[in-house]
Amino acid sequence: MRVIIGKDYNDMSKKAANMVAAQILLKPNSVLGLATGSTPVMTYNYLIKLFNDETISFKDVVAVNLDEYIGLSKENPNSYRYFMNDIFFNHVDVKPENIYIPDGMAVDLERECQEYENLIRQNDGIDLQVLGIGNNGHIGFNEPDLKFEGVTHCIDLDEETIKANSRFFQKDDEVPKRAITMGVKTIMNARKIILLANGPEKAETIYKAINGKIDPALPASILQLHPDVTFILDKEAACCIEKKESITLCT
Ligand code: F6R
Repeated sequence: MRVIIGKDYNDMSKKAANMVAAQILLKPNSVLGLATGSTPVMTYNYLIKLFNDETISFKDVVAVNLDEYIGLSKENPNSYRYFMNDIFFNHVDVKPENIYIPDGMAVDLERECQEYENLIRQNDGIDLQVLGIGNNGHIGFNEPDLKFEGVTHCIDLDEETIKANSRFFQKDDEVPKRAITMGVKTIMNARKIILLANGPEKAETIYKAINGKIDPALPASILQLHPDVTFILDKEAACCIEKKESITLCT
């Protein structure tokens, strides 16, 4: 495991964008696994800048997003599809037919999950997966559980997650209670993973994910077993980490 600590949110976002850019330069037709939420917003801004500078192009990239709320259409500004179009896809040259996000309005949700998993497989898997992390240690929407979840599936969101997500909605009863998410297995099958976190409120979760026991009660802890994972943090999120032999710390 590598841990890169940026000076601040801006610096860590630039470092994250550079890693994604390097992936695209080395393999222009990369399959990128992408995350929503507040954390990667500045990373997407830097990627747009690198695109505008003509340093990178997304024309051969395939994008597969981690998750989507069940019950929100793509026209709903709170859906992850809308969010991704708005903050990223509409500003780069990724082909619309190469963008995949689970359909939270699918009539047959089980089938939607299976088809999503199949399409990742048909694209030969994910080259680089970008992750955020929930305060409860979730990755994608794999909530704390008694076992690590498998492949893409529907999930009931934790109270803590619903509360955290409510900041984006006008009324509490509008906040979705369910989502489709790639499973932990889907994520762990990615060839390379970067996990981004910033701010003091993520510090304890990051400590547990990196230094704690590998435990489904903190889903991100399984990343300790991934052969190519990099945590990209700001100083505040990184403040509690303890150095251990399996960690390469870069500041
Ligand atoms: C988003 C996702 C979630 C978020 C996590 C952190 O696609 O899968 O795991 O990464 O909830 O969200 P923020 O970045 O808003 O703190």
